[in-house]
Amino acid sequence: MSTTENRPEWLDNAVFYEIYPQSFNDTNADGIGDLNGITEKLDYIRELGCNAIWINPCFKSPFGDAGYDVEDYYTIAPRYGTNEDMIRLFSEAHKRDMHVILDLVPGHTAVTHEWFRQSMKAQRNEFTDRYVWTDSIWEEPQGMGCIRGISDRDGSCAVNFFSHQPALNYGFYKPDRDWQQPMDAPGPMATREALKDIMRFWLCAGCDGFRVDMAGSLVKHDEDGKGTIALWQDIRAFLDREFPSAAMVSEWGEPDKSLLGGFHMDFLLHFGPSHYNDLFRCPEPYFSKRGKGSAKEFISAYKENYAKTNGKGLICIPSGNHDMDRLARSLDTDEMRVAFAFLLSMPGAPFIYYGDEIGMRYVEGLTSVEGGYGRTGSRSPMQWDKGLNAGFSSARADMLYIPQDSSPDRPDAASQCADDNSLRSEVKRLIAVRMANPALRSNGSIEFISDGYPLVYSRSAEGQTIAVIINPSAESALVPDIRGKFLYIVGSAEAKENGTRIGGCSAAFVEL
Ligand code: NOJ
Repeated sequence: MSTTENRPEWLDNAVFYEIYPQSFNDTNADGIGDLNGITEKLDYIRELGCNAIWINPCFKSPFGDAGYDVEDYYTIAPRYGTNEDMIRLFSEAHKRDMHVILDLVPGHTAVTHEWFRQSMKAQRNEFTDRYVWTDSIWEEPQGMGCIRGISDRDGSCAVNFFSHQPALNYGFYKPDRDWQQPMDAPGPMATREALKDIMRFWLCAGCDGFRVDMAGSLVKHDEDGKGTIALWQDIRAFLDREFPSAAMVSEWGEPDKSLLGGFHMDFLLHFGPSHYNDLFRCPEPYFSKRGKGSAKEFISAYKENYAKTNGKGLICIPSGNHDMDRLARSLDTDEMRVAFAFLLSMPGAPFIYYGDEIGMRYVEGLTSVEGGYGRTGSRSPMQWDKGLNAGFSSARADMLYIPQDSSPDRPDAASQCADDNSLRSEVKRLIAVRMANPALRSNGSIEFISDGYPLVYSRSAEGQTIAVIINPSAESALVPDIRGKFLYIVGSAEAKENGTRIGGCSAAFVEL
């Protein structure tokens, strides 16, 4: 079933939980998380209030970029289990009224992918044009970086991210060299069909949609994104025909483009002009009690995106992800409570990065694991309880995929579930309030009233209007003219004759 915006209905009330499969829950004592481990924890996620999950890539891979270097799109990496385990995970999730989206990496593969092996051959074959190659080893694809000198084929192959991730060929928007193929040439069209086959395979297996990696990167020399948008529109048409309830979420960061391409939702992230980092991850983040940060530029960029995309799809702001510092690296627990009040009261589906709900910390000083580099500290194994390896795995500690936070006071899920005053309990209540009030859900409209300390906005839907007051600063403040019924308070708030007094480091949802 879909909404008027042609979006799967479940997305309108979805709260996602992002799972980095390596680090979530290890059920076979090899030190690395697995799919059965995720299935085992579905009740934990559901109890928190999340009804959807995004799993980072879990396909066969040499793991030079933690699985974002896919070797075989059709097979679950043996370290995580089997395709049958994945199918069971889908069906266990569905039984709990949850949805699962997989990570689709359409822009590049691993060098060990069979397509690339064939493509490296001097003799022409079915995969010769599957990647972006120049026609001489001495010519590099301008501005793209390349792999060269490792094949019999006389050419350089463009890369899409790390230098071991060859770029799949979807063509050039405006080809200006012989080796640059137009988007509708047979090679690029075959790549596009191969992508549809992969999507078809996992959607038939029970998956509910995809988070698409670097979705804006596919067509080359495409400055305004027109070619890539057209490509995704074609994929949207295929989905509308065959899988109308599949959800598509893009890592693009330019919602006006991605939604035009047919995505239902786009992330605002730490890159591009979103000013996302101003809020949580900079020397003076807006969500700090010091009250020296600013949300102004973020809000102004958000408003611009919102105006361009309103009615066409959703924009979403995640708590973090596997590419960014943990929230807890720059915010203390009370600051995170206020940050979650914001994240869980904005339009678009919220995404909670595993462990952020308990304030897991960034683990400092780690050696890079599987292409993580500075990101490794945000990818450490989940802390479930106070047992061995924090309940993540029964393997020897030195076998764990990434070393865990070793501080004696590291947060854990079991303790926080038992404590009404914990961050996790706060997050759980905030999700419940969101779910219970149409104005707060993904589709409710937003109007900003003030963008300083406090930040004030109103959300409306189905005849309900809720004013949200977010005050990260330690100083309390009077918000004039806003008075009504308190639906939820983080910290403290009080109704006054002429408005609402919001406490320092507090947030309030006021039904008008
Ligand atoms: C974005 C992913 O989130 C990141 O982890 C990965 O390294 C790059 N894309 C390349 O696929």
